[in-house]
Amino acid sequence: MTDTRSSELYQRALALLPGGVNSPVRAMGAIGRSPIFIERGEGAELIDVDGNRYVDFVCSWGPLIHGHAHPRVLDAVIGAARRGTSFGAPTSGEVELAAEIARRMGSVEMLRMTSSGTEATMTALRLARAATGRERIVKFAGAYHGHVDGLLAQAGSGLATHAIPASPGVPASAAAATTVVAWNDEDALLAATEAGEPLAAILAEPLPANMGLVPARAGFLELLRERADATGALLIFDEVISGLRVARGGAQELAGVRPDLTIMGKIIGGGLPAGAVGGRAELMQMLAPAGAVYQAGTLSGNPLAVAAGLATLELLDEHAYRRLASFTDELAAGLRAVALDAGAPPVQIVSAPGLLTVFFSATPVSDLTGAQACDHEAYAAWCRALLSHGVYPPASQFEAWFPSLAHTPEQLESTLAAAAAAFAELA
Ligand SMILES: Cc1ncc(COP(=O)(O)O)c(C=O)c1O
Repeated sequence: MTDTRSSELYQRALALLPGGVNSPVRAMGAIGRSPIFIERGEGAELIDVDGNRYVDFVCSWGPLIHGHAHPRVLDAVIGAARRGTSFGAPTSGEVELAAEIARRMGSVEMLRMTSSGTEATMTALRLARAATGRERIVKFAGAYHGHVDGLLAQAGSGLATHAIPASPGVPASAAAATTVVAWNDEDALLAATEAGEPLAAILAEPLPANMGLVPARAGFLELLRERADATGALLIFDEVISGLRVARGGAQELAGVRPDLTIMGKIIGGGLPAGAVGGRAELMQMLAPAGAVYQAGTLSGNPLAVAAGLATLELLDEHAYRRLASFTDELAAGLRAVALDAGAPPVQIVSAPGLLTVFFSATPVSDLTGAQACDHEAYAAWCRALLSHGVYPPASQFEAWFPSLAHTPEQLESTLAAAAAAFAELA
């Protein structure tokens, strides 16, 4: 694998973009190398600027559930672009996309679109605070909800990857309104909800995927609902990753727990910038101009993103969900088998339909502390070896793999062969 052109671009980028990238986890510093610059994607493959090909398990960190440049998604985007890229006025596609999401996500009656998951989180918090007249939020260590001031303490994703416990530049007042609780810790949750300032919201990823994939223990999501009800707080599920991926109706459908508000992103924009917050009509009607809670966006509900999102959802029928689940199961089982055969360091392989993490740990991981205690050096070496064998993994132990519907049986085989070789190099 040569990376001459990537290295040259990175050197130029370092002078122009902080860290050489426009979003931190792309930098690949956590696996001890510089970033790979991408030329194009084809299905489940990436081709870099040096001509190297990789089976892609990042898939833009989630939006590309049908892989790169899916013809139906492309046609929809090109068709929309021909009609005009943005109007700052409503379009029929926005109504159709909202209706389609509401059909799928049981708790969503109405929604407001944004241009990113971060903005959707900001809107959800503002709504929760307006609805309850309270300020304090409970969130969980290792969860990531976008780069929102008050939610960066002990956050997952890029902050965990770069060991940033809480970002400088966050006003003390913003951080003071957040109580951070360890994921899966019932006692800590009870303590945080029984005492202290009244709560506006409990905010959680119902299937956390930003400290690696760390599902809730049995009963924990039900406890979140019970605690929200008991304290008069809203329950907000951040389904930016899990929504429309792990099941038609997201992680909330799988768990059978209904939040008051749901934050969405990624898949709903089909690879173009989009996010949304949705929930019960009486809450959503508080947003301007129906209500007084202000929120707005020049490119919100952008016609290209809406077209890509609609085309993406149209392709996501029951058959697609079964196929994604069985591909992920085969990948997980195959990785377990090759790790065992290679006599590699112990790993824990956790998966849900369309999501997977290989934790380099001898014991199951149930929270951020467990994810931090993994053998990050071994994960990094394994990832570098995977890249050299033509597989592109998330370059951080704290990020999930994103198997897609574009991955073929042949790519599964070549991935397992690469993983076996990479494990053998570690053994
Ligand atoms: C669960 C979750 N919430 C929110 C966000 C923020 O979304 P965006 O990057 O679109 O702002 C992310 C991003 O990865 C996420 O994983």
